[in-house]
Amino acid sequence: RHLYTCTQNSLSLIISVFVYISTFYQAVLQALEDGLKKADADPSVKAVMICGENGKFSAGADIRGFSSPKTLGVALGPIVSLIESSEKPVVAAIEGVALGGGLEVALGCHYRVAHAKARMGLPEVTIGLLPGAEGTQRLPRLIGVPAALDMITTGKHIPATEALKLGLVDEIVEENTIEAAIRLANKVIGQPLGPRRLSLKPVPKLPNMEAFLQEAQVKVKRQARGFLAPELCFQAVQAATQRPFAEGVRRERELFQVLLSSGQAQALQYAFFAERAVHRWATPAQPTAASTFTVAGQGLGTMGQGIVTSLVKANIPVVALEQNLEYLNKGRKAVMVLLEREAKKMEGGAQKLDFHNPARLQFTVDFNLLHDVDLVIEAVFENMALKKEIFHKLSNICKPGALLCTNTSALDIDEIASATSRPQQVIGTHFFSPAHVMRLLEIIYGRHTSPSAIATAMQLAKDMKKVGVVVGNCFGFVGNRMMFPYVEQAVFLLEEGSRPEAVDQVLEDFGFKIGPFRMSDLAGLDVGWRSRKGQGLTGPSLPAGSSARQRRGQRYSPLPDLLCERGRFGQKTGKGWYQYERAGGRTATPDPWIHGFLSQYRDTHRIETRYIDQEEILERCLFSLINEGFAILAEGIASGPEHLDVIYLNGYGWPKHRGGPMFYASTVGLPRVLAKLQKYSEAHPDVPKLRPSAFLKKLVAVGNAPLKEWMSYLSRQSPKL
Ligand code: NAI
Repeated sequence: RHLYTCTQNSLSLIISVFVYISTFYQAVLQALEDGLKKADADPSVKAVMICGENGKFSAGADIRGFSSPKTLGVALGPIVSLIESSEKPVVAAIEGVALGGGLEVALGCHYRVAHAKARMGLPEVTIGLLPGAEGTQRLPRLIGVPAALDMITTGKHIPATEALKLGLVDEIVEENTIEAAIRLANKVIGQPLGPRRLSLKPVPKLPNMEAFLQEAQVKVKRQARGFLAPELCFQAVQAATQRPFAEGVRRERELFQVLLSSGQAQALQYAFFAERAVHRWATPAQPTAASTFTVAGQGLGTMGQGIVTSLVKANIPVVALEQNLEYLNKGRKAVMVLLEREAKKMEGGAQKLDFHNPARLQFTVDFNLLHDVDLVIEAVFENMALKKEIFHKLSNICKPGALLCTNTSALDIDEIASATSRPQQVIGTHFFSPAHVMRLLEIIYGRHTSPSAIATAMQLAKDMKKVGVVVGNCFGFVGNRMMFPYVEQAVFLLEEGSRPEAVDQVLEDFGFKIGPFRMSDLAGLDVGWRSRKGQGLTGPSLPAGSSARQRRGQRYSPLPDLLCERGRFGQKTGKGWYQYERAGGRTATPDPWIHGFLSQYRDTHRIETRYIDQEEILERCLFSLINEGFAILAEGIASGPEHLDVIYLNGYGWPKHRGGPMFYASTVGLPRVLAKLQKYSEAHPDVPKLRPSAFLKKLVAVGNAPLKEWMSYLSRQSPKL
């Protein structure tokens, strides 16, 4: 099926390669090899052309094969060499995509002709690997080290026009690529092939190669944060600059094996399939208003602005509502700036942003304009009384079928729904900041939310190109609920002797983009302060005589409150856990004031300062978060560990090469996670979040059940999930 031969113009043997997400990978390799040998042996064949089937050259190997080394790119390398060593000219006709192994095949060819709309790339790095079929050695020889490094260490796809400029292809055509490739093949018959064999070419020299490589390595390392693949990709390209081709290939294979056994490729593969599983998740019900939403955004603050921008980007008509003209004008201006920026990014693409048309985007302060919309996303201040007041109004004004969504970080969906006459149509849609950038959307159903309301919210997520994850209703839902114990541990570690920069460093080395203290400076310490005041944990509603470091019988750290009382809200005030160059500044510098403040605090509360090592920092923060994840699963708040992982990967900056917190726990081994939690819990008996969850204990008791089987050990699953 994947190989056909024919003679055209009495010269060309055409081999069709179709490796697109191919489960026939081995079969395709075999077919390529057989075809090449046949062409070589047949004196009537004067040239060879390789193309793909169905308008696609090749998207490379099947990602599912990446856990099994035998079926990998390594097997493709000798075939690429075989192509290159052919005594007859071989021309690649690249249509659609030439990615990964597909592009490596094209690099083995003597000539490359691409369709103007084709895209090319070596995306192996994004799944934790490197191009293992000699691509790291051929590409720098063809397009030079800087461009090759950029493509190989980022995995980016480039359009044919750029490929032509880089010299990656010899020709681009607007029409029939195969015919153009055959024309070229005809033309080059008899010409010497030596200069076209990339393995024989030297890597183009740079005047300052050493310095360039050093700088590039620092950059790759800094951006990778513990993710091995970009750095090993760099090393493979570096080998091309230092060694002859054959030795470079050997080095590429060694580095490939290192990546394969590191576990990171498996984590990325897991992350890829976890997201697909979450996407496929569906309720039996149909959405009420699929793809024909008119949406109203209520509140144009930080979140409202991003949500409206995302909706316009998704081509959904929007009515944007504010409480008064002053807020409306401010909000409109901010939304317009965001949309202008988005429109610029989309320039040249097929889709145009139509945001100056009032039929697509309307700004108003008139609540009555909402009576015709299909769906409302409320994004006002995080205050229960205010949200209830707004929902009561919405329930009276909106048409009966309209879905009412609340964008809240933690509030009870049922209580908000109780203010309406249609609790079955009330649902939580928790966007992440900045909402026009972040892909995650937690969809929270309440006690009365109907399955069709859930299906409609899922459809909305799809239309907005977000990753919608359906979860149950509890304080903080899934993401924030797991985050609370993590941040709590980070603050406890400061009480006991650590410093914000030390804790952040450990978690950033683990792979988080920013550690918990940088994160809370960025989000604003006042947000949590307001919430704690609302819960009566601090501020005027705290009962007189409360102990400074205990609340409701549990350990409590007043440190964040003390910072807020001193006006240290983070970046916005120029001071928080760090100091910044000015209010609104972004460069965090460790603050000696904080160090002094912490030691004074320990003196006041007679806490003995102790040295806390990296292992303890990492384990207390991560394992308490993971422990909460097990509690969430046991309560039926989420469908499975993959859902928790997808939330963390897309909304909380969890490093992808570690697969998500629950996958990470499975790689550490549940018995070890349990033993550590037990140890820390014994040392801190007044911290309930360190007490191992019963579900974790059960999974260990049944013999460290593999992640895929975890949910089968639960007797109770939510009826709606
Ligand atoms: P914000 O302070 O930027 O905006 C608040 C909005 O509430 C403004 O549009 C304001 O006009 C409106 N508002 C305030 N009082 C009002 C009243 N009496 N009547 C009508 N409207 C009123 O807040 P932000 O950050 O956009 O948060 C909005 C919601 O999104 C909150 O529930 C928050 O918890 C949630 N959220 C915030 C995230 C963040 O990172 N900022 C992340 C995820 C959710």
